[in-house]
Amino acid sequence: MPIKVLLIEDNNDHVLLAQKILQRADGDYVLDSVKRAKKGLDKMSQTNYDVILCDYRLPDANALEVLKEAKRQISDVPFVVITSAGSEKIAVELMKQGAYDYLVKDSSYESILPAVIDRSFRRHKDVIGRRKAEESLKVAYEKLKETQEELIQSSKMAAMGQLAAGISHELNQPLTGIKGFAQAALMDLDKDNPLQADLSKIVEQADRMDTIIKNVQFFAKKSEFKMRPIDINKPIQDAFMFLEAQLKVHNIKLVKFLAKNLPKVQADPNQLQQAFLNLLTNARDAIDSTKRHQGGQISVQTLLDNDNKSIEVIFKDDGCGISKKTLEHIFNPFFTTKSPDGGMGLGLSIVYRIVNNHKGKITVGSKEPEGTSFKINFPFVEEEHIH
Ligand SMILES: Nc1ncnc2c1ncn2[C@@H]1O[C@H](COP(=O)(O)OP(=O)(O)OP(=O)(O)O)[C@@H](O)[C@H]1O
Ligand SMILES: [Mg+2]
Repeated sequence: MPIKVLLIEDNNDHVLLAQKILQRADGDYVLDSVKRAKKGLDKMSQTNYDVILCDYRLPDANALEVLKEAKRQISDVPFVVITSAGSEKIAVELMKQGAYDYLVKDSSYESILPAVIDRSFRRHKDVIGRRKAEESLKVAYEKLKETQEELIQSSKMAAMGQLAAGISHELNQPLTGIKGFAQAALMDLDKDNPLQADLSKIVEQADRMDTIIKNVQFFAKKSEFKMRPIDINKPIQDAFMFLEAQLKVHNIKLVKFLAKNLPKVQADPNQLQQAFLNLLTNARDAIDSTKRHQGGQISVQTLLDNDNKSIEVIFKDDGCGISKKTLEHIFNPFFTTKSPDGGMGLGLSIVYRIVNNHKGKITVGSKEPEGTSFKINFPFVEEEHIH
């Protein structure tokens, strides 16, 4: 590959001289030349030159001005300045501004021009190589940070899962006892005994605890997913069916943008339905908590992300939104901002686990107080893999 050189020089004789020198030199060079600074800058932005030679005094600018402007437009400029009279002050200033070299047109010019070009070319290659390495290091670092965060999140979940499984198992037995004895006592009492109401309350509360324990156990259970290729819209529609009537009562409008003919995802429809129900009930609570009379809106969208070979599901609500501080914790099990009656803080950790088990990814974007959006990406199954 020849070294591509741009010469910005208004004196024709000097251009011819440079051409002659480079023709005679050992290396392989291609020389373009322009007579004005402005033309030179245009050329630089169109072509990647390996070396730029610039006469110090040009009719429309001096080399220092050209260099400053070039650096504004291009990140690395392999810039060499040529003058007829040497001035140390100018040379120092040029180097300070990032010029690679400074050449005086004297008797040595002919012999050193090719060497200076070669040296600048090598330096330019180094600079570019280093910048590329820095960029890929930055990308790798970001990726590592992201993976580390995911790892922390999932190990936190695993630890909490074990703990939850243990506790809920232990609680189950005494709870069955409480409920059983209360029921037995109820049966023994006369219908009009004032203790009837209290005992019924005990049975009722024990039932509630039972539901909570079932939830915890679901969260803690490892894997009993029955995966098959399905249309992602199906569990979404099923989740809607469950909640449609209730959302109407809450004055919440449900808007659907479900893409048709999407590729299939490898999934357990029951699990996905459970995840989507959790997202919908969270959105419902967020809208309720704004206490607006006109209610609110939840929109659900499915679409194809061809670049990532994934299907995107987006849940958006115009509820209270999530503050930056809260955002850090929402996927943690037992984290809730709701009243003790309102929530256990398990919904999103279950969603996280389900999405994880589907090799998907969930991200949240919230701009308090405009509402919240959750985006889930599921990898889709290529047509030829469906049998
Ligand atoms: N759509 C949303 N808008 C605003 N805040 C939300 C939304 N979804 C989740 N959150 C916040 O994240 C917290 C955790 O949600 P998560 O579903 O895990 O638990 P929960 O809803 O509080 O309780 P549970 O789901 O067990 O009934 C919520 O308490 C709430 O602060
Ligand atoms: Mg919830």
